[in-house]
Amino acid sequence: MQDIKSILIAANKKLEKNKIETSNLECQILLSFALGVSKEYLIINANKVLDDKKVNQFNNLIKRRADGESISNIIGKREFYGREFMVNCNVLDPRPDTELIIDIVKEIYTMDDDFSFMDLGTGSGCIISTLLLEFPNSSGIGTDISENALNIAQINAKKHFVDHRVSFILSDWLNAVNSNKFDLIISNPPYILTNDLKSLPHEVSYNDPLIALDGGIDGLTHYKKIASNLQNKSNSETKFLIMEINEDMADELFQLLMCVGFERKNINLYDDLSNRKRVICSKY
Ligand SMILES: C[S@@+](CC[C@H](N)C(=O)[O-])C[C@H]1O[C@@H](n2cnc3c(N)ncnc32)[C@H](O)[C@@H]1O
Repeated sequence: MQDIKSILIAANKKLEKNKIETSNLECQILLSFALGVSKEYLIINANKVLDDKKVNQFNNLIKRRADGESISNIIGKREFYGREFMVNCNVLDPRPDTELIIDIVKEIYTMDDDFSFMDLGTGSGCIISTLLLEFPNSSGIGTDISENALNIAQINAKKHFVDHRVSFILSDWLNAVNSNKFDLIISNPPYILTNDLKSLPHEVSYNDPLIALDGGIDGLTHYKKIASNLQNKSNSETKFLIMEINEDMADELFQLLMCVGFERKNINLYDDLSNRKRVICSKY
């Protein structure tokens, strides 16, 4: 029989050994999750003795974490723009960098504006649900090539009570989308070079689905498909195209977007908090 304090100390040693930098915090998160209590409860009840069943459950979670599974996938949720989203192994774990897209849309529209948008490669639906929450008069369509991802996006839209303003479509980028009446198109497509996939940190390759990462030989495969899809929708009413990028690709993306009709003066790059160019915004 062990108390909370000694259980946490032992687990922390295990995660530290596996070079998990935030081991202390992660142990607390996993024990709170296993017991269904808050982190504060663990501190206040540090001397409380836990039964073996609970200790075993917790140790199983610690083993999964030590083996490389992400905290988000273990506890099944991740925070994005201050809200909680369900995640699992079928969707990309939402990244803080992607929150920049929401800030850019907030520069374009005010809270009361009525506009429609499409989120290509919606994954967990973190972008689309967040925009619907931030802009209560907007409506959106989310697409993904993964049916499993769309199921999670749908669950998240319901969880945040925005499901009546969104539709999800199984589509290879815009191929299955009939309407072209969108004010805004957003995408965070896969952009990691195929050759770089093998050198990704274990945490990423172990947890995020390959289909959410692989950007093809030059990392631009999906941007090219999206651009050519857009070009084919000749009477599109889209006013803005906003895409997350890897900053190394910025020059090539300028060229690509100019080839499909955007003027250079209407294409802007946005920096993330570390001053890296992470989002490209083009205006028709
Ligand atoms: C980098 S993840 C982005 C997920 C989510 N939008 C986010 O920002 O967290 C890319 C998404 O694109 C989807 N995807 C990959 N290939 C696709 C394709 N050909 N058509 C539509 N979606 C695709 C993946 O399934 C994945 O959900």
